[in-house]
Amino acid sequence: MYFIGIDASTTATKALLMDKNGKVLGVASNEYSFETPRPLWSEQSPALWWDAAAASVRQVMKTTGADASSVKGIGLTGQMHGLVLLDENGEVLRPAILWNDQRTAAQCDEIRRRLGKEQFIQITGNDALTGFTAPKILWVQENEPEVWKRARHILLPKDYVRYKMTGEFAVDCADGAGTILFDLKKRAWSPEVLKALDIPAEILPKTFEGTEVTGALSPAAAKELGLTAGIPVFGGGGDQAAAAVGTGAVRAGVVSLSLGTSGVVFAATDGAAIEPEGRLHAFCHSAPGKWHFMGVMLSAAGSLRWHRDTFAPGTNYDALLAPTAEVPPGSDGLVFLPYLTGERTPHPDPLARGAFVGLTVRHTFPHLTRAVLEGVSFGLRDSFELMKNAGLKDISQVRVTGGGARSPLWRQILADVFNAEIVTVNAEEGAAYGAALLAATGAGAFSSVESACDAVIQITGSVQPGKNQAVYEKLYPVYRALYPALSPQFNQLADF
Ligand code: XUL
Repeated sequence: MYFIGIDASTTATKALLMDKNGKVLGVASNEYSFETPRPLWSEQSPALWWDAAAASVRQVMKTTGADASSVKGIGLTGQMHGLVLLDENGEVLRPAILWNDQRTAAQCDEIRRRLGKEQFIQITGNDALTGFTAPKILWVQENEPEVWKRARHILLPKDYVRYKMTGEFAVDCADGAGTILFDLKKRAWSPEVLKALDIPAEILPKTFEGTEVTGALSPAAAKELGLTAGIPVFGGGGDQAAAAVGTGAVRAGVVSLSLGTSGVVFAATDGAAIEPEGRLHAFCHSAPGKWHFMGVMLSAAGSLRWHRDTFAPGTNYDALLAPTAEVPPGSDGLVFLPYLTGERTPHPDPLARGAFVGLTVRHTFPHLTRAVLEGVSFGLRDSFELMKNAGLKDISQVRVTGGGARSPLWRQILADVFNAEIVTVNAEEGAAYGAALLAATGAGAFSSVESACDAVIQITGSVQPGKNQAVYEKLYPVYRALYPALSPQFNQLADF
């Protein structure tokens, strides 16, 4: 019995084949790019996801030699928040507006104006941010009324792939909540928000839990994918929630930290917890009946890459990091602010800027490198602090994944800055693996998402906080004070 997880991300669509015990048999991926037709815009043609999904499924079936009739379920995941608009015939009306599109600042203000910021956060769990779907819908209403007039279906990116597979218009609760049109507690579209934003309920897809069947693979789609018709397609989840299933962050107290270009701090919660000012994202989890908090830092390992590419191009990361082990914690009073591409959490500010603060002639290149590792760690701690303030107790263990997690030095700095155990896990395949586990659970191979995680995810390494913890505890308030102190000047610098 096999399961397929499909991840329609911003850069590629990946297909992963897994057996009923969670063993990965093969992975295939097909890449594409996105367009930035104007400053702040980010768009992609939905056809790219479907073509790449079909190619990747065919490839993974071919390379593994798996028998198509053994595939018993498909789970979907993908980039969150993107807006796909279809007409009455299911034809795409305009390119999808993606999660990293920044054109909707005015529409975010308008949403707060119409519903009141506090009330909006109470209903949806989130402030209106440019990345999310709802302001993109308002933008189309205002700027492309002829497109809006013809729109009959709104979908999220991976749910366009679902539509092509099954003919059904459906979304899972995790991605549904990421539209910020959801009543977070009820795990359903909010009639109040829809009314205020002039969005008819019938234009939205039906909602499902991540382990529920949303439809069956149609004969036409089966032919394109090289699979058999009738295979159930399960809800799955937005990429962050599915990736959290892939690392086992499905129980309160276990936090996952993904240290890629961006940094994502993710914590499962048992109820619909909300950070009162909406500084954390609060969405439904893809594990049924669970929710989660999420903090997103835009340049995490991306800050280290920028540092390397700018000051030591061509150096490999081991060579870059080795000398920094000799630099004392706190980098002799040098602090790095990681806001190189603006920030989301805890400062939703596209004009925030990076900085080295505290430079003296005694500082060397390795000091700067260490300050980058420390500054990114402090910025991620900001999300932890918000989670603690919002009532999350006992953050006992942080499961770290992504490129940055490969550095033992960085893992030790994280343990010291967070004052928590940092562990690595055996999960390499991220969201696609989580989506396959959701499908396998839905098909009955595991009794629950939690037990699926218990069965397949193992801890491969652990670091405890050490002697440097006390130094970072003293330096963290200094870091914290720098953004509010500098933000007026960051705003002014944007004019130059
Ligand atoms: C999550 C988010 C991104 C996209 C990218 O809130 O915006 O992680 O899902 O894939």
